[in-house]
Amino acid sequence: MNVLTVFLSMKGETIAPGMKIVNLEKGYTNIAAEYIHEVTGGDLFEIRPVREYNPDHMKMIYEAKEEFDANARPAIQEYPESIEGYDMIFLCFPNWWATMPMPVFTFLDHFDWTGKTIAPLVTSGGSGFANALADLARVCPAAKILSGLEVLGHEAETSKKAIQDWAWKTVQEEELKRETFEFESFENRTAMDFMNAVLEIAEEKYHRPVRIRVTCNGVIVGQYVDGGLAGTEWLDRKENTVKATGRPTIELYWHPEEHPDLAADDTQAPFGGGLPYIISGENRGAFIVSGLRHREDHDLAMAALKKIREKKGNSK
Ligand SMILES: Cc1cc2nc3c(=O)[nH]c(=O)nc-3n(C[C@H](O)[C@H](O)[C@H](O)COP(=O)(O)O)c2cc1C
Repeated sequence: MNVLTVFLSMKGETIAPGMKIVNLEKGYTNIAAEYIHEVTGGDLFEIRPVREYNPDHMKMIYEAKEEFDANARPAIQEYPESIEGYDMIFLCFPNWWATMPMPVFTFLDHFDWTGKTIAPLVTSGGSGFANALADLARVCPAAKILSGLEVLGHEAETSKKAIQDWAWKTVQEEELKRETFEFESFENRTAMDFMNAVLEIAEEKYHRPVRIRVTCNGVIVGQYVDGGLAGTEWLDRKENTVKATGRPTIELYWHPEEHPDLAADDTQAPFGGGLPYIISGENRGAFIVSGLRHREDHDLAMAALKKIREKKGNSK
C-alpha cells in the first residue's frame, strides 16, 4: 500500500491550555504527521501557504477567519507532482475555525480524488473535527473517507502510541480488504516458500527468533520453531483462531466484541500473526508467525505472503 502523509501545521506562537501563548519549534500537527509517517512509510508532504501569517497569534487567528469567511483558496507553495501512485492519503490538519485551514481546501481542490482513500487526522484546542469531515466529504466527493483521529494539539507529542496504532490499523484494515488469502490449490511448495520468505524478512528486519507454521486440512505441512518445541503454544492458539474465524488473527485483537467467546478463551490468540489459507473459497488452513510483537508478527506474515504471491504460478 503506497501512503502519502500530508500535513499543514504552524510553528511559532500558539495557544496552550489556560489561554497561555507558547512558542512551538514544531507545530502539533507536524509532530502527529511524522509519527504516522514513521509507521506507514511512503512520502511526507507539507502544505505551505505562500502568504506569511502574522507571527502574533491573536492577529493570525483573525487573518485565518477572513480567509474562512471569504471561502478563500489561498495559494500554496507547491504540490506533489501527482497523487496517482498513492492508495491512501493521511490528511493531517489543525482545526481552524471549526474546519480545515483554507490552504488545505486549496490543496484538495487541486487533485482528482477518484479511487483514493483519505484518512484524516485533526489536532485542535478541543473541538476535534467539528465541521471538517462534512467539508472534506463535500470537496472530495470521489474519495473514500475513513473515520479519522482527533488529537488535542498540546497532547500530540505524548500521543505517539495512539497515533501510530491508529495509522497502522488504518493501513492494515485496507490491506486486509484487498487480500483474499485465496490459492487455487494446495501445493507443498507454498508452505516451504512461506517459511523461507518469513525467515528472509525476519533476518533483514527483525533480528529475533521466529516460529512459523503452515497448516492445511488440520495437518501441519510446514513448521520451523526457533527456540524449540516449548514455543509452540502461540502457534497452536493462532491456528485455532484462524480455524474459528477464517480471518487474520489481528481482527480478533481489533474487534474482540465480534467474538467475545474467542477473545476470552485462552486457547485462542487475540493478537496478530495468523492468516487464513483459503483454497477455492474454503478456509483450509493457516499461515502463522509468532515470536515478535503482535504487530510485527502480522506485518511479517503479510510481507511473506506478498512475497510468495510474487512468485509465479503459486497463487491466483
Ligand atoms: C486560526 C485558528 C483557528 C482555530 N480554531 C479552533 C477551533 O475552532 N476549535 C479548536 O478546538 N481549536 C482551534 N484552534 C486551535 C488549533 O486547532 C490547535 O492549536 C492545533 O493543534 C494547532 O495545530 P498546529 O500546531 O499544527 O498548527 C485554532 C487555531 C488557529 C490558529
